[in-house]
Amino acid sequence: MSTNPTHRGFTSNIGAILAAAGGAVGLGNIWRFPYMLGQNGGGAFLLVYIIFVLLIGIPLMMTEFIIGRRSQRNVVGAYRALSGPRKGWVLLGIFGIVSAFLIYAFYSVVAGWTLNYIVMAAGGKLSGLDPAAVAQEFSFFTQGSFWPLFYQLLFLILTGAVITMGVQKGIENMAKILMPILFLLLLLMCVRSLTLSGSHEGLRFLFEPDFSKLTGKGVLSALGQSFFSLSIGMGAMITYGSYIRKEDRLFKTSIWIALCDLIVAILAGVVIFPAVFAFGMDPASGPELVYVVLPNVFNNMPAGALFAVLFFLLLGIAALTSTISLLEIIVAFAVEELQWKRSTASLVSTAVVFVVGALCTLSFGPLQNFKIVGYTIFDLFDLITASYLMPIGALLMTIFLGWFYPKVEVKDELSNHGTLKVKAFELYYFILRYVAPAALIVIIISGIVG
Ligand code: TRP
Repeated sequence: MSTNPTHRGFTSNIGAILAAAGGAVGLGNIWRFPYMLGQNGGGAFLLVYIIFVLLIGIPLMMTEFIIGRRSQRNVVGAYRALSGPRKGWVLLGIFGIVSAFLIYAFYSVVAGWTLNYIVMAAGGKLSGLDPAAVAQEFSFFTQGSFWPLFYQLLFLILTGAVITMGVQKGIENMAKILMPILFLLLLLMCVRSLTLSGSHEGLRFLFEPDFSKLTGKGVLSALGQSFFSLSIGMGAMITYGSYIRKEDRLFKTSIWIALCDLIVAILAGVVIFPAVFAFGMDPASGPELVYVVLPNVFNNMPAGALFAVLFFLLLGIAALTSTISLLEIIVAFAVEELQWKRSTASLVSTAVVFVVGALCTLSFGPLQNFKIVGYTIFDLFDLITASYLMPIGALLMTIFLGWFYPKVEVKDELSNHGTLKVKAFELYYFILRYVAPAALIVIIISGIVG
C-alpha cells in the first residue's frame, strides 16, 4: 500500500460524515425519491427501498470507503494502487470519471432549476397562479435557452468555487454549514405539512404498504434509486473515503451516512405527500412533482409563499453538496493523476461539463426533438448512468474487492489494522461476494431486456 504524503483529508469524523452525507443527500432524495415513490404506489415502495438501503446500500458504501481509504487516492489512482500488476482495473476508475461527468452534466440542469425557483418564489412570481399557469411557467422556463443555461452555469460556478477552496476549507466546511441548515429547513417544512388538515391521507400513502400496487419494475426502481441516492457505483465514495481519517470507523461512518440519506428521503416524503393529498393533487405526476405540483400546494396553504422559498432553498442546498461531490471525483483525479493545480482542474472540468451539460439543458427546449434511440440527451444521460454505468461500476467493484483483493486486507482496513472488533465482518463479506453482485446482475439484465 502506498501513501501519499501531500494528502490532506477531512479533519474529523463528524466532518467526514457531514461531507459524505452532503454528497448523498441531494436532488435524489427530495426530487427523485418522492416522484418515484408516487409513481410506484407509495408505502410498499418505501419498505422495499429501506430494505435495499440497509442490505445492499450500506455494504457497498463501506466497500467504496475501504477502497478509498486503503489507497489514499482518487478513483483511478485507487484501482491502480490496489490492483498491483493487473493494470486492467484502472479502466474501472476511468469508467467512474466518465460516469461522474455524465451525471454532473444532467444533474446540474435540475440543480439550476432550483435557483430559478428560489428567485421566482422570492419575487412572488408563483403566487396566485392557477394550476395551468404554474405548469405553463415550468414549461416556459425549462424550454427556454438563456435562463436555464444561465442558472446551470451559475450552479456550476458555485460548485467550482467550493472545490477550488479544497477538501477542508471547501468541502468539509461547506457541509458543516449547509447540512444543519438543510435539516432545520426540512423539519420546519414537515411541521408545516403535518399541520395541514387532511394530512393523514398523505401519511397513509407514504407509510401503509399496499403490495398490490408494487410491480417488478417498481422493485427495480427502488434498487436503482437506492444507488443513486447513496451515490454508490462510480467512485464518489471512493474519493471521499480517501479523505476519511485512519482512526475513524468505516462501519459506523457508513451507517450514519446511509441513515442520514434515508431519513432525509423519508422526511421529504413527509413534507410532500400530506400536502399533495391535502390539496387533492396527483402524487403520481412524475419528475414534475416538486416543480409543478408543489407550487400549487404552496399557493393554497397559509404562509405558502414563504414556504415556497424555503422549500426551493432546501432543494438548492441539497443539490449543491451533491454537485460538490460530483466535481470532486473529477478534480481529485486531475490533481493527483495529471498533477494539475486544483484551481485549474476545477475550472477546466467546469468548462467541459458546461459544454456537455448545456446540451442536456437544451434538450428540454431547442433540442427537444433531437433524440438518440428515442431519448432526449437529458433522458439518455439519466438512463445510461442510473440503469447501466452505476450498476455495472458497482458490480465490477464488488468483484474487485470481494473476489480479487485479498480478504485479510479488506478485514485489516475495516478493523483499522486489527484494533477494532468487527463482529459483522463475515456478514459484510458475504454480502460483498454474493448478495450484492447477484442483485446487481439482476438489475443490469432487467435494465437491458427492459
Ligand atoms: N446522491 C446524490 C443525490 O441523491 C446524487 C449524486 C451525487 C451522485 N454524487 C453522486 C450519484 C455520485 C451517483 C454518484 O442527489
